[in-house]
Amino acid sequence: MGLSAVFHCVCIIFLLACISEVGAGKMVFNAVKYGAIADGKTDNSEVFQNVFNRACQMEGINVVLIPHGRYMLGPTVFKGPCKGHVVFLIVGTLLAPTDIASSVNVDHWISFQYMDRLVIGGGGSLDGRGSSAWPYNSCSKRPDCKPLPPSLRLDFLTNSWITNLTLINSKGVHIDVFGCDGLKLRHVNLIAPANSPNTDGIHIGSSRNIDISNARIATGDDCVSLSPGSMYINITNVICGPGHGISVGSLGRSPNEEDVRGVKVKACTLIGTANGLRIKTWALPYASSVLGLTFENIIMEHVNNPIMIDQQYCQAGNCQKEGDSQVQIQDVKYRNIRGTSSTKMAVTLKCSRSKPCQKIVLRDINLLYNGGPATSSCFYAKGVAYGIQRPPSCL
Ligand SMILES: *[C@@H]1O[C@H](CO)[C@@H](O)[C@H](O)[C@H]1NC(C)=O
Ligand SMILES: *[C@@H]1O[C@H](CO)[C@@H](O)[C@H](O)[C@H]1NC(C)=O
Repeated sequence: MGLSAVFHCVCIIFLLACISEVGAGKMVFNAVKYGAIADGKTDNSEVFQNVFNRACQMEGINVVLIPHGRYMLGPTVFKGPCKGHVVFLIVGTLLAPTDIASSVNVDHWISFQYMDRLVIGGGGSLDGRGSSAWPYNSCSKRPDCKPLPPSLRLDFLTNSWITNLTLINSKGVHIDVFGCDGLKLRHVNLIAPANSPNTDGIHIGSSRNIDISNARIATGDDCVSLSPGSMYINITNVICGPGHGISVGSLGRSPNEEDVRGVKVKACTLIGTANGLRIKTWALPYASSVLGLTFENIIMEHVNNPIMIDQQYCQAGNCQKEGDSQVQIQDVKYRNIRGTSSTKMAVTLKCSRSKPCQKIVLRDINLLYNGGPATSSCFYAKGVAYGIQRPPSCL
């Protein structure tokens, strides 16, 4: 059975049937057979590491299986490259540690690195038990704070699939993607309370060819955030909220940032979010560009600032206000964006005085405020508007 068939199988068809087909000389490493204890207390890090290493050292497609049950697991790194390809099936629930050391001084809970054609799936859950750590988050006061650990870190993966997983209450970002090329995230369900701090759903940086679809993200912070170096990213059929919406940025905070380009956000619904579709850059002298973004067929339900470009983003309120952002925003299309805004100003395009936004397209925008008309405002934004324009376009 070919690799693509295995992916298909893992995604769509019942998993055990899938595994038996993988058969033919390939191995299934059941963590329980290697000593994993599903009592919700015993630390299974070593067992999981051992099981992963066995699968990783074999040729072909090898499955790590974590069956039903609740498994506690400390911060763990699953590191490739592997001889073959690993399918990591989480059917049970993994529980993060709640001690302070595992909460504040590490940069991951579960980390997968340097693998090609990794599949993570299984319908199980990762419970980050973040409420033990959230009180240590200081990021609202200090922009240089050390973030709390993401539940799932994916670093330097290629051609990989993450499918059919639930992550709840991460201490930090739920899924952190860095340095990846070719990653599909399908049917992920990310959940945390509306007031949990900096618990973004999916955070992407320095990665390309990432395809997110059919996700439900309700984590209280950005549903998806795209930081420098995010290129060729598709976000389709995502339901987002409560949280801060879909964000590009914040950008332009440091010298030599990579550009953001080729982002397609389609057929998403934002519910009660604090922003809708937002591009944010700091008003600092560091140049980069944002180009080729499309936001299409988006439904807003009671969203603050549904369409927003903010080139004077300032997080903790103590930024230099006089400067202009040097991030050039260009070729951004908003098409068929409709629904309700919970602020009267439904469209805000606040660009940089010295690098005005170029080639902005607003087409068929239909956003109401309190059942009545909303307003829009533009600063240094150039482009065209056509089709329905509610609020009236400021371009
Ligand atoms: C997700 O995993 C569950 C349990 O393993 C399985 O029953 C279900 O069919 C899977 N769903 C998808 C969309 O793959
Ligand atoms: C993103 O969508 C486009 C079609 O709109 C497709 O051609 C491209 O391959 C997709 N990218 C990924 C990484 O799936």
